[in-house]
Amino acid sequence: MPSLLEQASKVLHNNWKEAFTIPCEGLYPFQWNWDSGFIAIGWAHIDMERAKSEIRSLLKGQWKNGFLPHIVFHNESKTYYPGPEVHAAHLSDQSPDVRTSGITQPPVLGFVLEELYRISEDKEDILSFIDSVYDAVYQNHHYFYTNRDPQNEGLVYICHNWEAGTDNTPVWDFIWSTFEVPDYELDRKDTKLIDASHRPTNKEYQYYIHLIELFKQWKYDDAKIAEGSPFLVQDPLFNSMLIKANESLIALGKLLRKNNKVAQLEQWQEQALQAMNSKLFDENLQGYVYYDLRNERKLSHLSSSSFTPLMAGIPSEERAETMIEHLHRGSFSGENDENFLCASFDPSSEFFNSKKYWRGPVWINLNWIIYRGLKRYGYEELSEKIKEHTIHFMETYGFYEYFEPSKELNKTLDKGYGGNNFSWSAALTIDLLTNKL
Ligand code: GLC
Repeated sequence: MPSLLEQASKVLHNNWKEAFTIPCEGLYPFQWNWDSGFIAIGWAHIDMERAKSEIRSLLKGQWKNGFLPHIVFHNESKTYYPGPEVHAAHLSDQSPDVRTSGITQPPVLGFVLEELYRISEDKEDILSFIDSVYDAVYQNHHYFYTNRDPQNEGLVYICHNWEAGTDNTPVWDFIWSTFEVPDYELDRKDTKLIDASHRPTNKEYQYYIHLIELFKQWKYDDAKIAEGSPFLVQDPLFNSMLIKANESLIALGKLLRKNNKVAQLEQWQEQALQAMNSKLFDENLQGYVYYDLRNERKLSHLSSSSFTPLMAGIPSEERAETMIEHLHRGSFSGENDENFLCASFDPSSEFFNSKKYWRGPVWINLNWIIYRGLKRYGYEELSEKIKEHTIHFMETYGFYEYFEPSKELNKTLDKGYGGNNFSWSAALTIDLLTNKL
């Protein structure tokens, strides 16, 4: 029986397509943005050249203004909807020659580069690679702060649920209820590939497609999107990833003597940290939440995204302590420790659904982010618990896309949910098993 590490490595090798890695055969057959970031961390432990290639391939999809799309369609596939013809990113005068989507995903590349630097045994070699991509990643941050922060607050918005990475979190229900959408004819493939009850509904997909149709009408012009998009949200996960990536780009920029860029990053960072703590922290819930910029209101719900500011060092020690109560004594673990960590949505909420995608199941990349955050704040025991739960899922069921949080229900299951042989589940398992923090 191959070891867990060998099994994880096999998943990555099987999903490798010449120069990049797909998230999952069939279900996600192209290159995805933040997936590639996590996947590169996994590759870095077993084949650094592939980690570099992963990042270079993703950057091939970068737009002239620094924007980095959520999908790069390097290859052909008929198993995914909506494909390149639906996204029609060529409508934008900023898009590159390669086909891409016109929406983005959480910006993880900055801190992925720092991870590669830490993992690599050949510092000189990896630094020269980082030097070769640094400016492109910096340009992506520049894009965010100049196009996605209309009130110059230090917080960037997302304009589509797929930009969040947490596609169908119940939080978006409160956005969908603010506008109507026509009945689009959908050509969904996902529900034919896996259990449809684990995926978003058709009604939700109507909203997803409607937003894309609006953006196409506006030729993906950011100013028009900021003015007209009914979905305009400051998301705690997205902003935490950007802040963590800022921090890494500052550290790497110092090594590479990129003084002007470092100074600019420091300026963004100072404002961003302050804004996260003043605007996205909910005193009643004692956690980081979402802000609906279009309708000017907080969306006060706890999700696994609420804990991601820990990884970026955003909360004070004191605030971190009260936040963490939710995890080990509160609703996420359950009062009697009845859940595996960490459900993607507050298990005590009426909107929680333990099987449905981002409405409750445990996701491995979020576990990894929270694990890193807990380490950063010195919560050794709790971080080890998250690691244990993560490895438990992989060992028991395999490298699925998401998992059932309830310990009781898990007794009745023989697999995880969603796609199997999912790349970031494998990649981050490699990191958890190998990386000495
Ligand atoms: C799903 C996830 C998203 C991920 C993509 C590819 O859409 O919600 O976060 O990037 O699949 O794996």
